Amino acid sequence: MKEKINILLLGSGGRECAMAWKISRSPRLDTLYVAPGNAAPYGTRVALDPMDFPAVKNFVEEKNIDMIVVGPENPLVGGIADFFADSEVKVIGPKADGARLEGSKEFAKEFMVRHGIPTARFMSVTEETLEQGMHFLESLQPPYVLKADGLAAGKGVIILDSLADAKDTLSDMLSGMFGSASATVVIEEFLSGIECSVFVVTDGEDYKLLPVAKDYKRVGEGDTGPNTGGMGSVSPVAFADEVFMEKVVQRIVEPTLKGLKAEGIHYKGFIFLGLINVEGNPMVIEYNVRMGDPETEVVMPRLKSDLVDLLEGVADETLSIKQVEEDPRAAVSVMLTSAGYPGDYQKGKMMTLPGQGDVLRFHAGTRLDEQGNVLTAGGRVMALTAYGTDIAAAAAKALAEAERVDFDGKYFRRDISRDLQAM
Ligand code: AMP
Ligand code: GLY
Repeated sequence: MKEKINILLLGSGGRECAMAWKISRSPRLDTLYVAPGNAAPYGTRVALDPMDFPAVKNFVEEKNIDMIVVGPENPLVGGIADFFADSEVKVIGPKADGARLEGSKEFAKEFMVRHGIPTARFMSVTEETLEQGMHFLESLQPPYVLKADGLAAGKGVIILDSLADAKDTLSDMLSGMFGSASATVVIEEFLSGIECSVFVVTDGEDYKLLPVAKDYKRVGEGDTGPNTGGMGSVSPVAFADEVFMEKVVQRIVEPTLKGLKAEGIHYKGFIFLGLINVEGNPMVIEYNVRMGDPETEVVMPRLKSDLVDLLEGVADETLSIKQVEEDPRAAVSVMLTSAGYPGDYQKGKMMTLPGQGDVLRFHAGTRLDEQGNVLTAGGRVMALTAYGTDIAAAAAKALAEAERVDFDGKYFRRDISRDLQAM
């Protein structure tokens, strides 16, 4: 084993920044590169498109990269792990076969049915089966859940209150609302409950669970307004107690890993279970084949163990001898966003970053100008993560920091974690 390794991390969001921060702290690390990255101070930025696999390969050879950590789903669904399968470099993330768990909602639902994993009742519909789809909608109680089968940048799920709207939207989706991603639509029964995100890391044989988190998707306080990429996150999640997690493991984690093996899918990487707690019983809302954003911004701070050591366990199939130790402190992350997001918003605003205390600043949509100033460059700009003895204390610290870090048009939610504070 090499004493220290070179890592290339692909991606440019808050998730990747939190991973870069964590990787940077590893005694196993020689050099970290982040492509394309943002204005964050962790790792060396590289102007590479994560979807340009030949360019990634050239860089890997040039810099003697030992491991590629893939942040977002697109390169995985696009087959980056397959592309590098015969090379020396270790890719953290599934091959395209495993990435279908996220790349196709229809595949994911059918996989769950095949392996007896609890999920909402559903029907998968195309233009040809539109009529059956309409009948299925009629058989359901409102609200109605419609999901584009393919990747739609987190926007492919629509929830409608009236049957008429659901029918119209189903037709619209099938006729190209999300391009080819919605040529197939999954209609689902609506599940009522509180959600949480469980992260599994697996080497194809063994697995470990990372700290459980919850994210806040809606733009407005009290979970109102349109869905966003995520306005904040918290860990731990009180209702994900020992009894609940035992059910998650027995009913979801282990059947999922067994199912992958049974289908000949050798899965190495992260599995993100989007779960909903329906009267004490966990059900799967979705699978993702990567870490969550902004969940990673609280999961990495709460992971005490060395992430690089853990990822080497994934690559070398030695995860069974690795440890996952959690920081006992709570963590809350508040996302600063640009006014107007998730609709239209302005970029290029100069950021004011007063002297940093102990609150972590995970850059999301930021960039550096020629003078080294940090400018806003996206809807989600920066995740501020604070620790606390409990989640209320962590939230108070993150919010205080959200007042200090500034830019024109700054917006954030003040109620991140509040629903869990009462539990
Ligand atoms: P997704 O993009 O799959 O994460 O879905 C976006 C959000 O829609 C989820 O986080 C849930 O809040 C909601 N959602 C998806 N499927 C269902 C369902 N069957 N019942 C209730 N809510 C759902
Ligand atoms: N926070 C949800 C996601 O990353 O998809």
